[in-house]
Amino acid sequence: MSVATRAAMPGVVASSRAMHELLPLVLRLAETRSPVLVEGESGTGKDLVAHWLHYGGPRGEGPFIKVHCPSIPGELLESELFGHERGAFTDARHAKAGKIEMAAGGTVYFDQIQDLAPPMQAKLLRVVEERRFERVGGTRTIDVDVRFVASSNVDLAEAVRGGRFREDLYHRLNVVPLRLPPLRNRREDILPLAESFLARERERGTSEASGFAPEAAELLKGYLWPGNVRELRSVVERAAILTARGEVTPTALPPQVLEQPATLWAGRDRRPTLKDVELAYIRYVLDAVQGNQTRAAGVLGISRKALWEKRRRYGIS
Ligand SMILES: Nc1ncnc2c1ncn2[C@@H]1O[C@H](COP(=O)(O)OP(=O)(O)OP(=O)(O)O)[C@@H](O)[C@H]1O
Ligand SMILES: [Mg+2]
Repeated sequence: MSVATRAAMPGVVASSRAMHELLPLVLRLAETRSPVLVEGESGTGKDLVAHWLHYGGPRGEGPFIKVHCPSIPGELLESELFGHERGAFTDARHAKAGKIEMAAGGTVYFDQIQDLAPPMQAKLLRVVEERRFERVGGTRTIDVDVRFVASSNVDLAEAVRGGRFREDLYHRLNVVPLRLPPLRNRREDILPLAESFLARERERGTSEASGFAPEAAELLKGYLWPGNVRELRSVVERAAILTARGEVTPTALPPQVLEQPATLWAGRDRRPTLKDVELAYIRYVLDAVQGNQTRAAGVLGISRKALWEKRRRYGIS
């Protein structure tokens, strides 16, 4: 990471090539008002990037308003987003500005936009395109200077193909795609992230742990991290609590990190056959991704159909 990038993004760890390539793009986009779609599995750092797009650019002094799409009930969403005029509906005793209006001069962040209901997607498209809208029950058109950022933890193009997301909104949001790779595909980031989380725990006074013993470091690097950076942060927090001082050893790591395929053979008297290894590895991956077939197939590098065949052959339920 260049000195400039580091200065602009304090606390962000980016040692892998994938992240090196992504960060300058984030900084560049922060300077603009284009809509940005941030995609990545849960826990990969989408919120972090959304904050940077805002605070790292000229709108940083303005408001940052987050709309968590899954948690706002459909019937309330329209007035939450666009506001309403007095008398627009039974309870509307006062006029109220919506989140988009409140974000004027700043950024509105649609978190998990894949969960936005189709009728709202259509309404949102107009605002993203024209930056103007009416409050619910109102006739006055309001112009607003906002930057739109959206995140999705599913592949939105796939959702478009499946008819669950509007194609026109997808294209309007997907100007410069920002895809955060899963942690398992940028393993150079694992230890630097772990070290930085451990340093944070030292600052908080949780622990005086000095670092990770080589065996613990190997286990961290080898694990699949289905919960990505968020899971790593929790694992390090736990390790810090269990390690008052000295190096973090494997005993301070949780079972899911300890039970990796390589450790399954330790202490066995015969060497594993290829079938043993395949079976154990498929089980391990399925376990690590909590049974998510698409993700498991992705990690294993085979199709969902091929995974299904193997599970049937080995009798993996
Ligand atoms: N590159 C990074 N450097 C430092 N911390 C990171 C990095 N990426 C993620 N984190 C931390 O990991 C945690 C999870 O990140 P974040 O909340 O941004 O994930 P997310 O992709 O928005 O997840 P979700 O889809 O579940 O909302 C946060 O505490 C965040 O600060
Ligand atoms: Mg998030």
